[in-house]
Amino acid sequence: MTPDYCRLALCVAREDLERLAVEFERLDTTGWQEVTAQSGDPRVVHVAAFFDAERFAELRAVDWRALGGRSVELDAEPAEDWMERYRDLVQPHPLGRRFFVDPREPEGATEAPGDRVLLRLPAREAFGTGSHESTQLAVELLETCPPENSRVLDVGIGTGVLSFVARALGARSVVGYDLDPAAAFAVAENWRLNRTKVPAWCGTLDALSAEARFDFIVANVRPEHLIDEYPCLRALMSPGGLMLLSGFLEREEPRVREIASGCRLEVRDGRTRGEWSAWLLEAVA
Ligand SMILES: C[S@@+](CC[C@H](N)C(=O)[O-])C[C@H]1O[C@@H](n2cnc3c(N)ncnc32)[C@H](O)[C@@H]1O
Repeated sequence: MTPDYCRLALCVAREDLERLAVEFERLDTTGWQEVTAQSGDPRVVHVAAFFDAERFAELRAVDWRALGGRSVELDAEPAEDWMERYRDLVQPHPLGRRFFVDPREPEGATEAPGDRVLLRLPAREAFGTGSHESTQLAVELLETCPPENSRVLDVGIGTGVLSFVARALGARSVVGYDLDPAAAFAVAENWRLNRTKVPAWCGTLDALSAEARFDFIVANVRPEHLIDEYPCLRALMSPGGLMLLSGFLEREEPRVREIASGCRLEVRDGRTRGEWSAWLLEAVA
């Protein structure tokens, strides 16, 4: 079932942020992020950090004020199962040419037909069981240009579906992140179900070191949600690296082309389904 999680919100002077981050790590945070400035004072940072629900008592016992924290709020988020009805209806289905997704609860055994690779991705809060066109297009583009031996970054990882596909297609390493706290939990469970480790964090690109480099970035995320991040993502690409963009509508192509050319990205391949489009882009000098 969907795990509960704790959300800790507080504000802190910027110079105390590092101390807090160390404490978050000690308590095995599943991710933390700076929340857009609410005070207007650049010296004060608002932070939201997420933890497994089992940490609640320990989190409550920490003296956050002694670490510089102010306006501390700690909540255990309920395990609302919004997907219960939907999950009763979902059925296993093929994805791309090589994969087969079982979105049901993982209680029973299941098998993929022929030589398709089985992905067990229970339909819960996180997005990505492969039923949406944007995921299907991304998988198909990954199949036509497999990220063999690549270091892959999965932006908006959801259930981890694209990460698991990338690993099955030969990626050397895959990491991913998502703003949705449910995603980090989903990926952690799904990697156990699929016996493929994919580290994922809840938060933003800021968690990566400036030196991190990726040969292949996949981002099935609406363009308006990434608009400030495209240049940073481009800076993380190795020379000649590839970026797979999905999650935009065919009528939005001119705008996405503009974003791409502004980031020195050239379209190498693309496809559409229904009203959705996806492109494979190459980093050019
Ligand atoms: C369409 S879903 C894709 C999920 C999965 N990767 C797939 O292909 O099926 C988009 C995901 O991006 C996340 N998201 C939206 N804006 C984001 C951002 N700026 N940074 C990281 N994740 C973001 C959403 O929470 C959501 O899980």
